[in-house]
Amino acid sequence: MSIRLEAAGPLCGEITVPGDKSISHRAVILGALAEGETFIEGFLDGEDCLSTVSCMRALGVDIDVDGTSVRVKGAGLDGLCEPENILDAGNSGTTARLLLGVLAGQPFYTVLTGDSSLRRRPMKRVTAPLKEMGARIIGRHQGGLLPLSVDGGKLSPLCYNSPVASAQVKSAVLLAGLFAAGETAVTEPAQSRDHTERMLAAFGASVKVDGRTVSVSGRPRLLGQVVRVPGDISSAAFFLVAASIVPGSDLILSNVGVNPTRTGILDVLAEMGANIEYVNRREESGEPVADIRVRHSALRGVEIGGEIIPRLIDELPVLAVAALFAAGETVVRGAEELRVKESDRIAAMTVELGALGADIKALKDGFIVRGGRPIAGAAVKSRGDHRVAMSLCIAALGAKGTVMLDSPDSIAVSYPDFLQTLHNLGALK
Ligand code: S3P
Repeated sequence: MSIRLEAAGPLCGEITVPGDKSISHRAVILGALAEGETFIEGFLDGEDCLSTVSCMRALGVDIDVDGTSVRVKGAGLDGLCEPENILDAGNSGTTARLLLGVLAGQPFYTVLTGDSSLRRRPMKRVTAPLKEMGARIIGRHQGGLLPLSVDGGKLSPLCYNSPVASAQVKSAVLLAGLFAAGETAVTEPAQSRDHTERMLAAFGASVKVDGRTVSVSGRPRLLGQVVRVPGDISSAAFFLVAASIVPGSDLILSNVGVNPTRTGILDVLAEMGANIEYVNRREESGEPVADIRVRHSALRGVEIGGEIIPRLIDELPVLAVAALFAAGETVVRGAEELRVKESDRIAAMTVELGALGADIKALKDGFIVRGGRPIAGAAVKSRGDHRVAMSLCIAALGAKGTVMLDSPDSIAVSYPDFLQTLHNLGALK
């Protein structure tokens, strides 16, 4: 069902964004492979992380979810059981790719699938190294697309030179490496988010980081932990941009994860002239955390490309929105990964923002926005992609008319209370 989005007023006050999606997935997976119980606080109870929970339950792990508090009864490294049915990762690429790493090391047979978007997304980047380690993985496009069947067990360690800067690829290989005797290493072309290596170390694995190479020793003894999940900077991003573009805004986002592998959005907004400050920096469960204050300010266009891309890949749709309200041109290059996310986000953002009257042009690996033109109301489509849907909601806050969004349903993947929060802040009528 479509919804009406009409801008109301500035965003003022303090909010807490939901728990980090990447960290929530990893806490469930490592908790399941550990001995003893893992308690997760601040868990993201969005659809994606609940897909990881239901897959781990199907593998025999006892998990209690009570809103944002989760208790995982660890099965230990050798304690997973062959599932009776096909595992469903839903819309979640992280669930599918990280689980493939775990399943590769299991002495049993599994079949993994996902929704129509996930069944189109590339899996060979993960299945190729896992096959090199000895897993037998079969599926369409030579094991490149879900559904995939995995006949795992008896893995050899691998030194893998990844062609993509992808935390999901790195994590899948490192997780498989837990089941191989010896050291498994992954080298990536640019630094991707490092939550897996941080959390593996916190659970007791022996992890080494040397430049862009991360290695883990196989067959570790993982011990259950208390994991406090910080707020997701990728969810905070929508409010960082919203408060920056709506005059009169002054907002505090409390308890946001500011791991340097994730803060590209803060670097770029600062370069655009945004008024953002960190308050109360601290560390929790091995992850840096801060409260962030953001106030409205005039923005200017910037060039975004190179090594920063993996540090802000999920924030590029909402940065396209920021660019609409910035003076001059914003150019994004080197972001071809956007084409294989939950939707083709280059096509989605250029077409949908174009429908609102934006001057935005797609490139093969990014986009060019000429900012400063007024944005009108129009009907737009979320394409079943949570970050496209939320970015279009933020664009509506700066539009002169009513924006009609075809469906807000996908937002529940990562931020179930997003629209309610915008209403509570008085940003939407
Ligand atoms: C994620 C890694 C990123 C990111 C995704 C979550 C993760 O994907 O876009 O939303 O939790 O590891 P890639 O690693 O494929 O770039």
